Amino acid sequence: MLGRLASAAAIVMGLSMPTMAQTFPDRPITLIVPFAAGGPSDVLGRLIGQSMSATLGQSVLIENVGGAGGTTGAARTARAAADGYTLLIHHLALAAGATLYRNLTYDTLRDFEPIGLINQGPFVIVSKTGLETRTIAEFLDHVKKTGKGISFGTAGVGSGSHLCNMMLQAQLKVQFNEIPYRGTGPAMNDLVAGQLDALCDQTTNSIPQIQGGRIRAYAVTALQRVEQLPTLPTLHEAGLPNFEVTVWHALYAPRGTPAPVVQRLSAALETALKDPTVLARFADLGTTAYPAGQRGPAEARAKLESEVAKWRQVIAESGFTPTN
Ligand code: MLT
Repeated sequence: MLGRLASAAAIVMGLSMPTMAQTFPDRPITLIVPFAAGGPSDVLGRLIGQSMSATLGQSVLIENVGGAGGTTGAARTARAAADGYTLLIHHLALAAGATLYRNLTYDTLRDFEPIGLINQGPFVIVSKTGLETRTIAEFLDHVKKTGKGISFGTAGVGSGSHLCNMMLQAQLKVQFNEIPYRGTGPAMNDLVAGQLDALCDQTTNSIPQIQGGRIRAYAVTALQRVEQLPTLPTLHEAGLPNFEVTVWHALYAPRGTPAPVVQRLSAALETALKDPTVLARFADLGTTAYPAGQRGPAEARAKLESEVAKWRQVIAESGFTPTN
């Protein structure tokens, strides 16, 4: 009896799998951005979501779920139904959060189904125009002398901006006054308004403001200069040996999302990363698509695993103590 039930179930499952893939998606998809609207993750999420929506024939609705360095949005995704209709765009903060947050309600390496890698790019050190420094040498000297007297924005413990600050403070042997926001979108508003002194921000968020003369830029956190910011030295050139922080975004679904759905989403992401409009926008914003052939679900899972291990070590070496 059980044997017959099992084989019947297998037939039904077998029938339903191709059907599921063929009909998915049959309603709008929610893409959770774990930081506030207007920041780099939000800009990327909307860009990728718009292209995937055209490919999939369903709306991709952005939901900004900020807080706790991106872990609040990650937790929301991990709890969602594993049906492909709730996705998450996230970056190195998802990996670092595994070390920095002791009470996560999800398992970083177990509770997500990677769909694919999206982009990679540097951060840029920027300040309000009212700061009296003009060069990276003057800025670093000012930071070392001022310490807690200079306010640096972050998007919460574990965010990319926070990780960059953590490395900068460790190398300079100084503590800033860190001001947390729900994303570097709101932090940028305060920087432009002169309410915040400095930020280590993704180029995707800062380049438009730099080009508009509304903030001042000093150096980039890549080991090579950035094409869109050719006059800016690297921090390595500025005397911080091998200082490198690279942001990379990936797309995730909850663990248990059926493989045919993951494949359908991964194919739509791949189409987006070959979309000339998306690639032109990436170039304008100083970021690049993750290399073709190295950005599928398996590569995204391997990247997350290696980055969890990397940031566990970097955080330990920086002397930063997780607070919760
Ligand atoms: C954002 O989108 O606000 C940023 O990714 C936050 C950060 O990581 O600093």
